[in-house]
Amino acid sequence: MCGTVAKLSIVGTGPGSPDYVTSAARKTVQKAQIVIGAERSLSLFRRDIRGESLALTARNLDDALKYAVDSAKAGKSVALLSTGDPGFSGLLGSVLKRTSSEHVEIAVVPGVSSVQACAAALQMCWDEVSLFSFHDAASSEKKIALADAVKAGKDVVLIPNPKVFTPRMISSFLLKNGADKATPVIICENITLNDERIVHATLEEAAKQDFAPMCVMVIKSSSKMKKRD
Ligand SMILES: C[S@@+](CC[C@H](N)C(=O)[O-])C[C@H]1O[C@@H](n2cnc3c(N)ncnc32)[C@H](O)[C@@H]1O
Repeated sequence: MCGTVAKLSIVGTGPGSPDYVTSAARKTVQKAQIVIGAERSLSLFRRDIRGESLALTARNLDDALKYAVDSAKAGKSVALLSTGDPGFSGLLGSVLKRTSSEHVEIAVVPGVSSVQACAAALQMCWDEVSLFSFHDAASSEKKIALADAVKAGKDVVLIPNPKVFTPRMISSFLLKNGADKATPVIICENITLNDERIVHATLEEAAKQDFAPMCVMVIKSSSKMKKRD
């Protein structure tokens, strides 16, 4: 963004706790004339919002993004709130798709991803993990790549799909595709929030359980991780 003024800021809001909202995120929201985000994200910035605010829902997503882009093009400063980090299954991808042929100045304010928060809670280095997100789509190519990574003994960190590829479905899928039933898995639910829960199980056990929709799943195919007390 050297030499230009950012008009559309895509702001990472962290995994949910106010403790993980950065001061860069707060400053960007304070300066914005329009703030757009899901209710859960807006509530983290109640005291920072000085301009107009718009609640984002699954239903108004397209219209709200168009409004964000059009307003930025008209010279308004817009902050678009994206949970976790905007670049990992966040709103950055959706905005880039919509703005590829338009001239709009974009800035990304990074946030703490749920993946980072999960790795921290598990005291896990994630330099070598295979990272997957099924949040937007669970294509058969991606599912096969996941099964291959597990069979190759890679540790995997993934964002499930709360409807079509839940941790339970993922575990069944991997068992059907040759994974060892004793493979350790960890499901990190609602990380940093009051109802945070971390469940250690095997693939076989996880295939018989339901988990909170908001979760990150870790598959320890290398089975080398220390268990937490
Ligand atoms: C649209 S994706 C956004 C991911 C986000 N950009 C990030 O970097 O964490 C939403 C999914 O992220 C995961 N997620 C977000 N916050 C979480 C949290 N506090 N605890 C566990 N998983 C979370 C859940 O799987 C949720 O369905």
